Amino acid sequence: MNAATEQQGQQGLGETRVFNPPAAFTANAAVSGMEAYNALVAEAERDYEGFWARLARENVDWQTPFTRTLNEDNAPFYKWFEDGKLNVSYNCLDRNLTNGNADKTAIIFEADDGTVTNVTYKELHAKVCKFANGLKSLGIKKGDRVVIYMSMSVEGVAAMQACARIGATHSVVFGGFSAKSLQERIIDAGAVAVITADEQSRGGKQLPLKAIVDEALAMGGCDTIKNVVVYKRTGGNIAFTEGRDIWLSDLVDNQAAECEPEWVEAEHPLFILYTSGSTGTPKGVQHATGGYLLWAALTMKWSFDIKPSDVYWCTADIGWVTGHTYIAYGPTAVGATQVIFEGVPTFPHAGRFWETVQKHKVTIFYTAPTAIRSLIKASDADEKVHPKSFDLSSLRLLGTVGEPINPEAWMWYYRNVGREACPIVDTFWQTETGGHMITPLPGATPMVPGSCTLPLPGIMAAIVDESGADVPNGQGGILVVKRPWPSMIRTIWNNPDRFKAGYFPEELGGKYYLAGDGAIRNKDTGYFTITGRIDDVLNVSGHRMGTMEIESALVANPLVAEAAVVGKPDDTTGESICAFVVLKQARPTGEDAKRIAAELRTWVGKEIGPIAKPKEIRFGDNLPKTRSGKIMRRLLRVLAKGESITQDVSTLENPAILEQLKETA
Ligand code: PRX
Repeated sequence: MNAATEQQGQQGLGETRVFNPPAAFTANAAVSGMEAYNALVAEAERDYEGFWARLARENVDWQTPFTRTLNEDNAPFYKWFEDGKLNVSYNCLDRNLTNGNADKTAIIFEADDGTVTNVTYKELHAKVCKFANGLKSLGIKKGDRVVIYMSMSVEGVAAMQACARIGATHSVVFGGFSAKSLQERIIDAGAVAVITADEQSRGGKQLPLKAIVDEALAMGGCDTIKNVVVYKRTGGNIAFTEGRDIWLSDLVDNQAAECEPEWVEAEHPLFILYTSGSTGTPKGVQHATGGYLLWAALTMKWSFDIKPSDVYWCTADIGWVTGHTYIAYGPTAVGATQVIFEGVPTFPHAGRFWETVQKHKVTIFYTAPTAIRSLIKASDADEKVHPKSFDLSSLRLLGTVGEPINPEAWMWYYRNVGREACPIVDTFWQTETGGHMITPLPGATPMVPGSCTLPLPGIMAAIVDESGADVPNGQGGILVVKRPWPSMIRTIWNNPDRFKAGYFPEELGGKYYLAGDGAIRNKDTGYFTITGRIDDVLNVSGHRMGTMEIESALVANPLVAEAAVVGKPDDTTGESICAFVVLKQARPTGEDAKRIAAELRTWVGKEIGPIAKPKEIRFGDNLPKTRSGKIMRRLLRVLAKGESITQDVSTLENPAILEQLKETA
């Protein structure tokens, strides 16, 4: 497990404060009180398949109803609702045209510069249909892969929905990834088209998107790409390749505003989303259609208690799974009104989140602990951006996602943003799980700061030891899910073996889903606290990054002989990246070291993306290794933290280099 989360997890474990949901909240909640929660848990235990079948019938509109709920014949390649047919975009849009939501605002788009655009369900439906017809006119069809490289926009969501409408499988690549990362994903997915924008507008700056797509395609190997569709966001100057590139407006303007949805099998791949694991290459997490949609819709009701009158705002980016489930699909599937924000929390000032809540009378607010921690700092320094300087009385529910929240940050959020009147849902989940797994239910679960509390009904989460045996409450171990659930990852694109070995390891009996996190349950309450990753995955600002990926990027630089990357606890970002580097030349010092470190940082930014740039780089003549040549990461983590080494270093081949590695370039 990595250092920062270990520390935060420990803090959470000693926590004794308990906060009950406000009575008024409970009275109107979808899951009202712990008896209601326990009844759902019992229903799932009594009749697992019956439970999911009931929920799938209630929450999803099926064009062809399913008759088989779960097929476990080829485990762990589980199939859910397999003989049912449906369309996700139909469920998110068309449904809302006939249930009274047609003129309801689906999206309140808050642009970087504060300009607001409202889009009703009727308008969104027409937009998506035109987009879908446009994609069809390019020859894109069911099963084709489409890469979406866009900033936060109505068009980004419409692009995803349009792919879903025609049965194309989208793969959204976060706009902060480099050309090389984009190229790798295009090649792995075998995409036929890229949907992008000319530029993105963030924090008052115009940043390139199309130019990066051009660069990625020029790197070669992307022969499957036939078209690049470009949404004009800023009007910035971009290059155009005749025959390949097409403006979105030219593609859609003359298209019909109706598009018959492609009815797909429940197991049809809705999307692939690349995420980091413990190897040097990212993995394409593939989700299915029916089970995923069920979970997106159901958790909007269970975890967010979504009501017709809510104004919901999730600050995530569509480039991450949170932006898929809790922006593009979940809110629309339940006919909610949501804010979509283009910008950054600190522009034009660090009160932007609170100002936006006030402006749109947001009722449900969902963000990352890193954002909260950075805004705590900013509002300590400047009262004008403190939440108390804004009217946040519209808020009724808060949420966090992506990383552990330390109890201090939780308390600040509870007091200053929620005015002690809003429950907080600390939602634990992953790209692979498709949606929330362990989280308080806001009208039921008593909350403990730093704990994600209890699994959702039907989620058989447990903590086991290395042999797969249950460990008693109070004793830490490995977080697993013992039974398949509808929104789980189906496979790793192009790599079913890696899926099977990585997520259903034989050591644990081959049947449990291995989340990759450590956890511990409270002795008395059974509440879960996540103690951090047990693999070489870092969590920086809620962004998931593999240490091996960063190491591979570093050693690809001609100057570098060897590199090891570890996480270091960081007050704001949770963890930060600390790289230990051995150069082919002599170990640099002073200004030389600074210059090369800067060069390497830029290099990693180009190889992976700016989010992967190491915060610290330290140079050594060598790395601490055992006699068998294994890098002792445990020691590197201690060094990164600036602590003195108390462990036994007698197995270390070269103890002298520990001194060198204390120094940051
Ligand atoms: O380590 C856990 C952490 O984020 C990882 C999943 O990252 P990703 O797939 O990028 O998805 C992030 C958005 C769901 C997990 O393995 N994590 C996520 N949520 C929490 C968390 N750790 C503690 N508490 C959480 N609420």
